[in-house]
Order: sequence, then structure tokens, then C-alpha cells
Amino acid sequence: MTNETQTPAPTDAWRAALATRKTEVANPAAIPATAVSPVDQDVSRRTFIRASFWGGLGVTLLGSVGLFLDFLYPRNVRGFGGPVPAGKVTDFVKGGEPKHNAEGQFWMANLDPAETRAGGSAGADGLLALWRKCPHLGCTVPWRGTFDFEGDKGWYRCPCHGSTYTKTGVRVFGPAPRSMDTMLIEIDEAGNITVQTGSITPGGPDNPTRAVKV
Ligand code: FES
Repeated sequence: MTNETQTPAPTDAWRAALATRKTEVANPAAIPATAVSPVDQDVSRRTFIRASFWGGLGVTLLGSVGLFLDFLYPRNVRGFGGPVPAGKVTDFVKGGEPKHNAEGQFWMANLDPAETRAGGSAGADGLLALWRKCPHLGCTVPWRGTFDFEGDKGWYRCPCHGSTYTKTGVRVFGPAPRSMDTMLIEIDEAGNITVQTGSITPGGPDNPTRAVKV
């Protein structure tokens, strides 16, 4: 008789369970591929929050810049610096006195080539818009139909320092460095005149050639 405890012989089910366990440990592919450590999860969350913050800030800044540019964009600009209505062609008699346009800050005359006097048209034919600002120091230049200069009546005469200009704005006397500036004139098919007061050409002896025939 012996006291040794007899180890029970492994059954088939036991052998099968052991074999399966060995296979799982020996095969790394059996470890789930999606397993992510808690540290990795934390980093990825932080990256997402940071990206969201900067993305949101960028969109907000872009929107603000867009609104600012939209605010600066000129719309329906009227008055001096933009298009100014100046009446109809028929409002201006050929050879008549220049008319003042306060909104556009210009004088408009319909020049007659037959007005051959010294302060006259110098052969110009048609409409001419003269900026009223004196090229010397910027005083407002009036048309003075009764002003006599060297025996001829009807000149533009600056009240500040006496610069004197013909009906076409050509300087004949005074400290002004050049003739009166001209503005661009547009006339539609119905005879409506628009002066582009933002389109100014420095005055010169060629002012008479800038008249728009009507
Ligand atoms: S500002 Fe007109 S002459 Fe001086």
C-alpha cells in the first residue's frame, strides 16, 4: 500500500483548454489592434481642444477683418469726390456766363469759339467744368463777369492774392503755379450732364481743348 497521492490524468477537455491558452499568448496578433493607452487618449483630446480653439479664433478674426473691409468699401458716394449731376445740356447757353455748382465745387460753362476776347474761350467749343479751388493756396475762385482786367471784362479772379484766369481757367496773372483744374464731364443720350468730381486733371494751357462739344 502506498500513501502517495495519485495525480489525476488530464482529461481531453483540460488538454484542449491548455492548448488554446498557449496559442493566444504565443500569437501577438490576437491582441486587439484598437487598444489605446489612457495617456494616448489624453494627448489626443488635448490636441483636439487646441485645434478647435485656434480654428475658432481664426474664423472669428477672418470674420472681423471681412466686416471691417466691407465697412470701408464706398457705396453710393455722392457729392464732391463722386459723380455730381449738373443739369441738362440745354441749361447752358453757348457763350453764356459760367454757372456755379456748390455740391460739386465747380464752375460749368458752355464755351463759344466765337468769343474771341482776351478772357474768352480761346477757340474752345462746348462744356468745360473748372474746379473752383485756386491752385495757389486753395481759396475759392469766383467768376466775376464785371471784373475788368487789361480792358477786358469777365474773368475768374481769386480774392486771396489776385490770380486771374480766362473763361477756360487759363492763368494770365497772379501767383498761382498753374491754370485752374478741370473735371471729367459725362453726358448721356438724354442730354443729362454728370461731372465726375473725383476725376480732376491739373490745369494747363491746354484747358480749352478739354471742352466737351454739345
Ligand atoms: S489762393 Fe488764389 S491767388 Fe492765392
